[in-house]
Amino acid sequence: MRTLITNIKSLVQVEDKKRIAVCGEEMSKLHSIDNAYMIIEGDSIVDFGEMKNLKETNAEKIIDAKNRFVLPTFCDSHTHLVYAGSREIEYIDKIKGLSYEEIAKRGGGILNSAKRLQQASEEELYEDAMQRLEEIKSYGTGAVEIKSGYGLTTEAELKMLRVIRKLKENSPLTIKANFLGAHGVPLEYRGRQGDFVDLVINEMIPLVVKEELADFIDVFCDTGFFTVEETDRMLFAGVKNGLIPKIHANELDYSGGIQVGVKYNALSVDHLECVGEEEIECLKASQTMPTILPGAAFFLNMPYSPARKMIQAGLPVAMASDFNPGSSPSGNMQMVLTFACVNYKLTPQEAINATTLNSAYAMGISNTHGSISKGKKANFFITKDIPTIEYIPYYYGTNKVDRVFLNGIEQ
Ligand code: NIG
Ligand code: FE
Repeated sequence: MRTLITNIKSLVQVEDKKRIAVCGEEMSKLHSIDNAYMIIEGDSIVDFGEMKNLKETNAEKIIDAKNRFVLPTFCDSHTHLVYAGSREIEYIDKIKGLSYEEIAKRGGGILNSAKRLQQASEEELYEDAMQRLEEIKSYGTGAVEIKSGYGLTTEAELKMLRVIRKLKENSPLTIKANFLGAHGVPLEYRGRQGDFVDLVINEMIPLVVKEELADFIDVFCDTGFFTVEETDRMLFAGVKNGLIPKIHANELDYSGGIQVGVKYNALSVDHLECVGEEEIECLKASQTMPTILPGAAFFLNMPYSPARKMIQAGLPVAMASDFNPGSSPSGNMQMVLTFACVNYKLTPQEAINATTLNSAYAMGISNTHGSISKGKKANFFITKDIPTIEYIPYYYGTNKVDRVFLNGIEQ
């Protein structure tokens, strides 16, 4: 089916020549065509340009964008959106002054979510996660990475990953699965954490790989969680088994997580609240995408990652939601744009680059997603009637997305 979209106020994040990511100063530029049309054929974008140059006569369907903006759908490269139950009780503890680490030490946090997930059925987890996917889609997300990591036993980790596989099969969103066996240390392994690392390496990874359940491997490499040496061992085993690393790093401390991620050519290192000159130099010499999770830093009241410093150093920066029941209970990427602008002083243009093309890179799909480019997937949204692109992060808290198209199909 050939569909023509007419009267686009501005077609945003357009690329004539595909780039794999946008770095440094380039991030402030967002290429767009005003008064535009776009043609999609099947699931792909085949043409676009200015309305005045439109010659098309053979479209089977015409959609009038009615002078609204068209953007590529967001790529949310870091989420934990398969989970059982939420954790608002801990939120109250947090308000009263307990830190994330203190809550975790008491068996709350990730361990609390693990207990609930272990008791939940595959069907329940699937239904809940599918609803969350529908919700984030309505806010403009078209591709999402989903992690395991609330299982923490071999059986429960496999259950989570099977849920993600079923979501992949049935959801119109593009989904990547990330095996995060090393998200927390189960209580019964306290004092013998090395044995749990052995379990991840010798039992979990081989089974995950055998069932082809994951694209990526992740480790929470930080103070109070897994050390650099343990992370190194697990990434070595993961890479040997064909998994690509994407890790949680430098959220709570200058943990060495960035360096060990880069050593294994991680696709991304995520969180990055603690980044200094050494970490920036390390990232500059790598192919690894620095990924900031503004929702988690906001919700945990953490210091903000030095996004501007990284951009000034010529690095690309991606941003994702970190949607999870503890540190970021929202998958709304429009809110991520607002946080990017208010808390990290990114311009709306930089924020859109961070949440489309650069976050597509961070999930290994920037050749097919993340921009409006010929041959790429027809994954885009038409906005509501808004005056400018800047209005999306500015008028925060309401949904500016009107119609969502994934693989050429209206949702
Ligand atoms: O990305 N930092 C580690 N993991 C998650 C938090 C998960 C949770 O608290 O449940 C994160 O923020
Ligand atoms: Fe996370």
